[in-house]
Amino acid sequence: MDSNKLILKPGLEGVPVTNSSICDIDGNKGKLLYRGYSIEELSQKSSFLETAYLLIWGELPTAIQLRDFEQEVQMHRRLSFRVRDMMKCFPATGHPMDALQSSAASLGLFYSRRAIDDPNYIYNAVIRLIAKIPTMIAAFQLIRKGQDPIQPRDDLTYSSNFLYMLTEKEQDPIAAKVFDRCLILHAEHSLNASTFSARVTASTLTDPYAVIASAVGTLAGPLHGGANEDVIAMLEEIKTPENAASFLDNAIKNKSKIMGFGHREYKVKDPRAIILQKLAEELFIRFGADEMYEVAKSLEAEAIPRLGPKGIFPNVDFYSGLVYRKLGIPRDLFTPIFAISRVAGWLAHWREQLGANRIFRPSQIYTGSAPRDWISLENRK
Ligand code: ACO
Repeated sequence: MDSNKLILKPGLEGVPVTNSSICDIDGNKGKLLYRGYSIEELSQKSSFLETAYLLIWGELPTAIQLRDFEQEVQMHRRLSFRVRDMMKCFPATGHPMDALQSSAASLGLFYSRRAIDDPNYIYNAVIRLIAKIPTMIAAFQLIRKGQDPIQPRDDLTYSSNFLYMLTEKEQDPIAAKVFDRCLILHAEHSLNASTFSARVTASTLTDPYAVIASAVGTLAGPLHGGANEDVIAMLEEIKTPENAASFLDNAIKNKSKIMGFGHREYKVKDPRAIILQKLAEELFIRFGADEMYEVAKSLEAEAIPRLGPKGIFPNVDFYSGLVYRKLGIPRDLFTPIFAISRVAGWLAHWREQLGANRIFRPSQIYTGSAPRDWISLENRK
């Protein structure tokens, strides 16, 4: 192809690469819909598993479908002892996202590969990934502390069970409910980097465990899911609400990014950040205040008049870390928790990609050398 005729769009900004019926974003109005249902309504009325079902299969489940889905997920929460033993060999100092990426990829070793035209294979892969990812994250947390992972409990809901496996104690139902609502908020967001990565991988017709492992690796970056960890580090560095203005001055002067601010799609405050801020406040009322929340509010108040005119507002990561911190979750698990939730969106996109597949193979604009003669080793300078 004559590359002179191509127009480069760095980051594919504004370039549609697929049709999709999963999620709709209006970045100017701050609206987010999953399969036509608003994020506000879903986060109030649905559960994470019901939302995952909606995203992946396209419609809200009937009561029987939901019961069956929940039961299947519950039945597949345990990890093979081989996966647990493999995880025990991971370095305890490694990042949990790397542990998750490796463990998710390892499922491809255990379950028959690439039967992706078999609806049973697809259904079972969906169930296994949704069921096992939380268990993997909780298992790594205990293993790195030198403990044995604890088994899932069948009498607990999806979110309560995860918090139980992670913290080894049964959590207050309000904490579990808030956590479940966080999972709904993070479940899907159209063609963000990790979802695009999932679709590119899916387009090769590889197995779903490779699709999810590829997406987990992409989510880990600080410009994507990794930002929620950095927000807390930033707030701790600012220390007090009074320091927010000078921190912002320096950041703007040095052209450094305010973590948890800015979004390729939203030019207003991210609707998920609005809900997460309310969830954080619910937790502070119930379990006590967090001084970092005052710092966050002060930074937001200082930043909006200065960054708002450029369309830079708090994104989903700005308040999610404060919620997880109040739930007693270690900072380096924030992004793995994002993955627990986003696996629903990735799987929905995997199915949609398979439904009308064409392998991704974009073009490039070549900027290298013109054809030239080989130089033998003794003549090179
Ligand atoms: N703080 C300060 N300035 C910012 C920020 C920010 N957080 N985000 C963007 N800008 C500025 C840029 O400096 C740039 O300014 P300039 O035109 O004067 O050079 C302008 O806004 C455009 O920025 P880009 O980086 O080109 O915007 P893009 O759409 O590519 O980036 C992104 C979006 C990556 C999210 C960016 O806003 C960012 O890095 N934010 C901080 C990291 C973060 O919070 N990531 C989580 C995103 S949500 C998610 O992935 C789950």
